Amino acid sequence: MKNPDKLDHKHLPEHVVIIMDGNGRWAERKNLSRITGHREGIKAVSSIVGAGREVGLKYITLFAFSAQNWNRPKKEVLALMELLKQYLIEEGERLVEQDIKLNAIGRLYQLPEDVVETLESIIHKTKDCKTMTLTLALSYGSREEIVDTVKTLIKKGIDPEKIDEETISKHLYTSDIPDPDLLIRTSGEMRISNFLLWQLAYTEIYVTKTLWPNFRKRHLIKAIQNYQNRERRFGLTGKQIQKRD
Ligand code: FPP
Repeated sequence: MKNPDKLDHKHLPEHVVIIMDGNGRWAERKNLSRITGHREGIKAVSSIVGAGREVGLKYITLFAFSAQNWNRPKKEVLALMELLKQYLIEEGERLVEQDIKLNAIGRLYQLPEDVVETLESIIHKTKDCKTMTLTLALSYGSREEIVDTVKTLIKKGIDPEKIDEETISKHLYTSDIPDPDLLIRTSGEMRISNFLLWQLAYTEIYVTKTLWPNFRKRHLIKAIQNYQNRERRFGLTGKQIQKRD
């Protein structure tokens, strides 16, 4: 079969970012604990990372824990940290086998020490992997990232007259990954939730009602197909874009 997933492989989004929402609602609907919902969410993470690689994506970024999520009940925060560590321990080797480079963005120093150690060890093990880059946004907030970037620029003594968009992009946590082409948000909420505010300037947004624990390869393919039917204009007119193509 030539094209089993019915995607135009010449026009894949290079970088897909996902706001993985709906673990809690998935659990509540089944009368289960929110933590069970997050555990189920991890299964979706493994599945989508593998699917993204199979499809041919170069970068996937997942919003796994926001700067604001620290304010959730202590029990839930602790469970999320434990699940994250377990995920890293269980998936580390598989990432190497799949040639997937692990990357992380956010105020990582706020994470528990054992999580940081596990994270750093897998980042190190996968540093030469080339097929895809998986970035986990952890203790991440976009406004916080912008604050950190401004601080770095000031500390470096950069001449304000020399600051342009590129200077800022190069000092964000995402300096070595391209801006996202497609943002997927699960569970139907129409919000950006302090995620990659600068980087999403020209990103196509796709919202699905599917709750994150139910999100699988077929949903990812549907989102990419939807993306492939859009015209990205970057502020130009439709005619200008058609001429350029
Ligand atoms: C949103 O669901 C999800 C989160 C706050 C965390 C996402 C975390 C995971 C999928 C598991 C850990 C991640 C990795 C990469 C190992 P919610 O709790 O806000 O759901 P709700 O809006 O239905 O309550």
